[in-house]
Amino acid sequence: MNDKTTLKIPKYNLNLKINNNKNIVQAALEAGVKLSFSCRSGVCGTCKAKIINGKTDNSKGITHNLTNEEKSNNIIFTCQSLPLSKTLELEFLSPLSKSLLANDNKPKEYIVEILTINKLHESYIELITSFPKRIFTFLHDGMKIQLNIAGKLSENKYNIITPKLNPDGSNNGLISIYIPINDKEIYQNLFPGETITIIGPHKNDIPVNGKPYLFITNKENLISSLSKIKQILFINNDAKVMLISYYENKHKIQFMDEMHKIQNIYKGFNYKIIITKEKVASNTRFIFGKPVDVLNKIISNLNNHIIFIDKKNGKLIKKIIELEGLKENIY
Ligand code: FES
Repeated sequence: MNDKTTLKIPKYNLNLKINNNKNIVQAALEAGVKLSFSCRSGVCGTCKAKIINGKTDNSKGITHNLTNEEKSNNIIFTCQSLPLSKTLELEFLSPLSKSLLANDNKPKEYIVEILTINKLHESYIELITSFPKRIFTFLHDGMKIQLNIAGKLSENKYNIITPKLNPDGSNNGLISIYIPINDKEIYQNLFPGETITIIGPHKNDIPVNGKPYLFITNKENLISSLSKIKQILFINNDAKVMLISYYENKHKIQFMDEMHKIQNIYKGFNYKIIITKEKVASNTRFIFGKPVDVLNKIISNLNNHIIFIDKKNGKLIKKIIELEGLKENIY
């Protein structure tokens, strides 16, 4: 049976769905997370972990290098054991790498073909390209890439928003990249059927420490915020994340379907939309006013939050400090 197990490693705030037809090290790697391991043959012990909750199948792997005492203390080689329960909570005996991401290497170059270009809203296009399946598992929502078109490297990095998946969840070798239309030099040189080079993935540096996250963003920074949010939720499916985005009027709202989709998948994600220049309307889920005036209607105390905000917006920063947000937690 190929089913999913939720792998929990509380010390690292990891909460990840992995396949349970592979050993834990391999399944996590395929889901994009690198645990501690070295030999992967039940010898070195680097991958040892204690089961705090849940069950594993240890019958198919090499376990004779574990002492009887270790076995009776529920210590396993994660490179040799398969997840067996719906949830598996582990404590690793060796430290895990800080970022946990399996792609925590130097960005690489991949030659891909542009398949489709779709116009999204007034300010973005979606570029759908092929991607080699063998490295697909190291790419996921929230990562960034650069493009090299006809020998010219893009200055900006672009977000992979939704790797395209088959209905059964397996990858079909396609990824989707969002590019701002005002990035003219890139935008005007993209044509279906052409071959381009993708360089990446590049890391998003996001603190992962179990605190709730708050993103306050205008439409210019929305894609970048959504990208970071997806990366947070990828590592910790249960993370608490609030996204507040603001627009002049209802017609300027972007990616509401994307926000809604994320909310449907992750129960810890919530979003609010502020309309800054329209008359207050009743029977609507929007909030009307300037962000600085209505923020306290949405959230009252920020002293425990990691906050992502445009740091040039002095008034909002001041408001956040008033609401007990800590300067060292503002990014
Ligand atoms: S990685 Fe060496 S025993 Fe598992």
